[in-house]
Amino acid sequence: MELVSSMTDYTSAYRQSVANPEEFWGEIAGDFVWKKKWTKVLEWDFHKPEVKWFIGAKLNITENCIDRHLAGQADQVAILWEPSDPKEGAKKITYRQLHQQVCKVGNMLKAHGIKKGDRVCIYMPMVPELAFAVLGCARIGAVHSVVFAGFSSGSLADRINDAGCKMILTADGAFRADKKIELKKIVDEALEKCPAVEKVIVLERTGSQPVMKSGRDCWWHDEIKKANDRCDAEEMDAEDLLFILYTSGSTGKPKGMVHTCGGFMVHVNYTFRTVFQYQPGQIFWCTADIGWVTGHSYILYGPLSAGATTVIFEGTPSWPDMGRFWQTIERHHVNIFYTAPAAIRSLQQASLSFVEKYDLSSLRILGSVGEPINEEAWHWYHKNIGKGKCPIVDTWWQTETGGIMISPIANVTELKPAYASFPLPGVQPAVMDEKGNEISGNGIEGRLAIKFPWPSIARTIYGNHQRFKETYFSTFPGMYFTGDGCRRDEEGYYRITGRVDDIIIVSGHNLGTAEIESAIDEHSSVCESAVVGFPHDIKGQGVYAFVICYNKPQDEEKLRREIRDTVSKIIGPIAKPDKIQFVSGLPKTRSGKIMRRILRKVAEGDTANLGDTTTLLDPAVVEEIKRGALE
Ligand code: PRX
Repeated sequence: MELVSSMTDYTSAYRQSVANPEEFWGEIAGDFVWKKKWTKVLEWDFHKPEVKWFIGAKLNITENCIDRHLAGQADQVAILWEPSDPKEGAKKITYRQLHQQVCKVGNMLKAHGIKKGDRVCIYMPMVPELAFAVLGCARIGAVHSVVFAGFSSGSLADRINDAGCKMILTADGAFRADKKIELKKIVDEALEKCPAVEKVIVLERTGSQPVMKSGRDCWWHDEIKKANDRCDAEEMDAEDLLFILYTSGSTGKPKGMVHTCGGFMVHVNYTFRTVFQYQPGQIFWCTADIGWVTGHSYILYGPLSAGATTVIFEGTPSWPDMGRFWQTIERHHVNIFYTAPAAIRSLQQASLSFVEKYDLSSLRILGSVGEPINEEAWHWYHKNIGKGKCPIVDTWWQTETGGIMISPIANVTELKPAYASFPLPGVQPAVMDEKGNEISGNGIEGRLAIKFPWPSIARTIYGNHQRFKETYFSTFPGMYFTGDGCRRDEEGYYRITGRVDDIIIVSGHNLGTAEIESAIDEHSSVCESAVVGFPHDIKGQGVYAFVICYNKPQDEEKLRREIRDTVSKIIGPIAKPDKIQFVSGLPKTRSGKIMRRILRKVAEGDTANLGDTTTLLDPAVVEEIKRGALE
């Protein structure tokens, strides 16, 4: 099917997708390799909830991501790997080589008793073998559960047990900037609590010489040597499980979101090609980790199914220096660059000379994902990285949605900084009020729900369909509830205002923490901020702001007044922070998300019980915040 390449195309594709979703997605799905066609495109009931796409169809996603490219582009680079230490040198893996490696992994897994439907946990650094591992599972129909290699042993054990994994693929260690993390040790600790795990296959990466438990542990290089490089792709039903990926809930333990083969493939491929307007031969770099959904959908399955060259980056943006991203773009002539606002904001703090040193003229399109991007960061990114010429696609989606849902289409949608803009064809949002009524018209604000299924919607929470129903389909019966707040402006542009669980209600007014943060960040001394609510005798909730400044404030009281004035100007006096605590850092997960749970506890004065802080990037920052907490 022709892709959208103008606003007229968008309008007509959107209309068709709403008027006749089955015909719309059926046509898109026609562009893939199926072992057997579907008998019906869609069956659904959001009350149950149940969603099935491409009923009766059979496929293997790796045939679509690899085999079908062998005829015309076997020697094209599929994966361009940039190691942690640039001195180690990049590696290029062609589609032909990718095919061989994925087949070998498939055979290696089979040799150790893994078969279709078995769950395999992958806990690895960002090396090419991680991609081979993920695709190797998909090749033989095993369900991959990738756990980000920054999680602690306890978090890893919980995920292994919840998914009932029989095998772990890991590495001796991982490089993080100039440090080595001993991954295998973490796995060993986790496995003390995971009796069902029979096999651990260990890739040698850092040379840390871990203890190998005989009978259970073996080396990747020994096993892969024995494996044949031809492996038939298992025939999968469109609704068979492709992967489980854990995401944290607002309460309780992490939720294992389940994605299935057919719909996920169709959606991530369509959105990859549409949103980024991908052209054959382009080099695409998504800086996420494969341990998160962004990496699943837009490092691996989306780009590879489109036959693109996808960059896998093992490093961090600030090492060896703050120019690492820009150096890598120059080195690999990256055309499309997709990153997170947190990364942009941290690099924005560094001298511009780190950007100016490098030739970024290969860039065509920039992307942002994971949280609302504040206007200041948007403009910095647009001006300094895109040189004013590259559109920024601010893509809104979730682990649960599997792929991009609301986003500008590059070079098609007229951009509005910090707006995710319009729903993609096939996506039917609804803005809801607190009573559960849909708000019609424009210039409105409310909670974001989706009225109609899209192909890559998660099908369940692994082992807990009831929780799936309660979390996503009970707030607004008959609709999927995103947990996000949004505004639809006068022109119909969507702006995601942040999680509604992070909304603060001050004197009966709803205030988005993200919105207040964005206002605070407008003050020229402020680098980043995080806002949470705290109980307030008169207003119900007050606003507590944790603020990082570029330089240590000389006169804290004066700066507090200025920040309050800034917020008052941008949002209104109601949003002025009641308390402003200056901090040198924020408690962030390794993926850059602020752990608001911790900040809320501090703001409430309950510093004794902060819960698990082991997944934080820098646990020491919590101690500083506790010491400086305001009464
Ligand atoms: O609040 C939204 C925010 O990230 C949440 C989903 O997080 P996760 O499942 O970890 O997936 C992140 C990568 C897709 C959403 O509920 N979010 C994601 N993208 C945006 C965003 N908020 C605003 N703008 C975005 N572009």
